[in-house]
Amino acid sequence: MTAQEIRQAYLDFFKDKGHSIIPRALLVPEGDPSTLFTGSGMQPLLPYLLGQDHPAGSRLTNSQTCLRAQDIEEVGDNRHTTMFEMLGNWSLGDYFKQDQITWVWQFLTEVVGLDKNRIFISCYSGNQQLGIAKDEDSADIWTEILSKEGLSTKRVDIGSMDNGAKIGEQGGRIFFYGDKNWWSRAGKPNDMPVGEPGGPDSELFYLYPQVKHDTKFGEHCHVNCDCGRYIELGNCVFMEYQKGNEGFTKLPKRNVDYGGGLERIAAAAIDNPDVYAISLMRPIISTLEKLSKRDYASNTTAMRVITDHLRAATFLGVDGIVPSNKEQGYVMRRLVRRAIRFAFDLGIEQNFIEEATNTVADLYHKDFPEVAKRRDQVIALLMKEEKVFRQTLRKGIKQLDKMAARGHLSGEDIFILYDTFGFPVELSVEEAFTRSLPLDPKWREVFEQKMKQQRERSHTAAKGTFKGGLGGNSAIHRKYHTATHLLYRALRDELGDQVVQHGSNITEERLRFDFSYPSKLTPEQIKSLEDSVNTQIKRDLIVSWAEYPTEKALNEMGAMGAFGDRYGDRVKVYAMTPEGSDVPYSLEVCGGPHVSHTSELAEGGKRFKIIKEESSSAGIRRIKAALI
Ligand code: SER
Repeated sequence: MTAQEIRQAYLDFFKDKGHSIIPRALLVPEGDPSTLFTGSGMQPLLPYLLGQDHPAGSRLTNSQTCLRAQDIEEVGDNRHTTMFEMLGNWSLGDYFKQDQITWVWQFLTEVVGLDKNRIFISCYSGNQQLGIAKDEDSADIWTEILSKEGLSTKRVDIGSMDNGAKIGEQGGRIFFYGDKNWWSRAGKPNDMPVGEPGGPDSELFYLYPQVKHDTKFGEHCHVNCDCGRYIELGNCVFMEYQKGNEGFTKLPKRNVDYGGGLERIAAAAIDNPDVYAISLMRPIISTLEKLSKRDYASNTTAMRVITDHLRAATFLGVDGIVPSNKEQGYVMRRLVRRAIRFAFDLGIEQNFIEEATNTVADLYHKDFPEVAKRRDQVIALLMKEEKVFRQTLRKGIKQLDKMAARGHLSGEDIFILYDTFGFPVELSVEEAFTRSLPLDPKWREVFEQKMKQQRERSHTAAKGTFKGGLGGNSAIHRKYHTATHLLYRALRDELGDQVVQHGSNITEERLRFDFSYPSKLTPEQIKSLEDSVNTQIKRDLIVSWAEYPTEKALNEMGAMGAFGDRYGDRVKVYAMTPEGSDVPYSLEVCGGPHVSHTSELAEGGKRFKIIKEESSSAGIRRIKAALI
């Protein structure tokens, strides 16, 4: 099966089992300040995992594009990618371990046809301190399935990664690990902030016997070893706990959150440990081979990096991100520039972005209509970035000339050229060589050390984003969410229907709202927007919601939505209505959460204030506002 066929078969399989297929969420989470990107399929479903009813029911499935920017530097081996599709199915208080485990096994072995002998399992070993038991239930279900297949059911207690490397596989089939088999967005139980849901999980691994264990990763191999002999295919999270002030409590419902990597499953289906060999990747590599007149076998790393980065950058573009120096835009810029740098290494000078990105779009446009719709725009955007970057490279040459005047090139110089001007290391070395400029003997060590410091800085920043608060459900978050609706309504009233939401983001400190409008707002307009929002806060509108068929909500009722958002068949619509009236002031498609009365926004004598109004990109304005 091709990757495209596996995706479709997965959705069909779970639809058949009573699941509603829900659209993927954007790569940039809406109203969720906890992460820069959607990093797992469950992230957009958080309110429902916490207990809210989902309009599409208690069984859901989709293929969610995910982006894990922390992995940028790891890209280049045969399995890491920044962007991937996560095949997900969820039970919101519906089925639990028995069905989940049976179905995932059926799907992988009967539908995809993977070799049963090569699938290995891990389960949670429990945590006495937290009072959470060893997951014998899952292990028993696996035992039943495996023994029916005539396969070994031997259990091995591994515990930690270190112990795994020490004792190895021991001929086991079901392995118990500690924190490795606990899943939450924040990781281990101890790292979870209060309110965060999580739970024990059971993972599936595929063995590639053709890969030899590398002792660089530990003395012995085990299913969680990073050497690449075992590849994780999927993870069944049994999400039934929530972190409380002291220990864990049970969530109102027992949920299942399954996620499987489409690219990795597709690689297993062709028995190739290289995810870049699959039908959603290989054509991009082929375009690079054509453009560079070099082959994949001898230019593996560069071609993988370019392929990964352009896929991610294309989807970021489709989802409305523009290269910039901040947040998501910065990551997008880094991805495009790294791709161009590696293309430079391959000697590709002409038509790079245009041709390669076209190949990416060709692979996705049938299954993702938004790719078909925005491909030309995105390609133009990336080509513009390519042009800007080539100018930067030229500036880098000037900088290098200045450095050269000192008579030598140091590791720090090379780092500055790399970090600030996007200069490939090889390019700096080459330039030094052609100018007969000596390199400091220790240049490489110094460069590596600077790189390490830089990575640590960016990891700290990424962690900080998470710690910055799972604001998702805090009181202030709800207030800003409600304020955002009031602002959107006020913008429409003040500036007309050409105002369409292009994005929104909320932190504990402020709301941010992007919308289409051709010119800078005047101080009078800003004042009048503030007045309008403050008036509605004072009027104490009642906030309520109900579900409607999407068609009716958007077209008949005129509920406002955001540009580029794709909705399922039914949507949740929030209304803000004056007491005693049945004509809402604001009507907007939204998942919530909100306050119940707008006067809550004025608690503590606070007022709504626009702190900043600026351009976000061509034709898009950005407002930052706070309750102060
Ligand atoms: N949320 C889990 C993961 O990301 C399973 O979907 O692995």
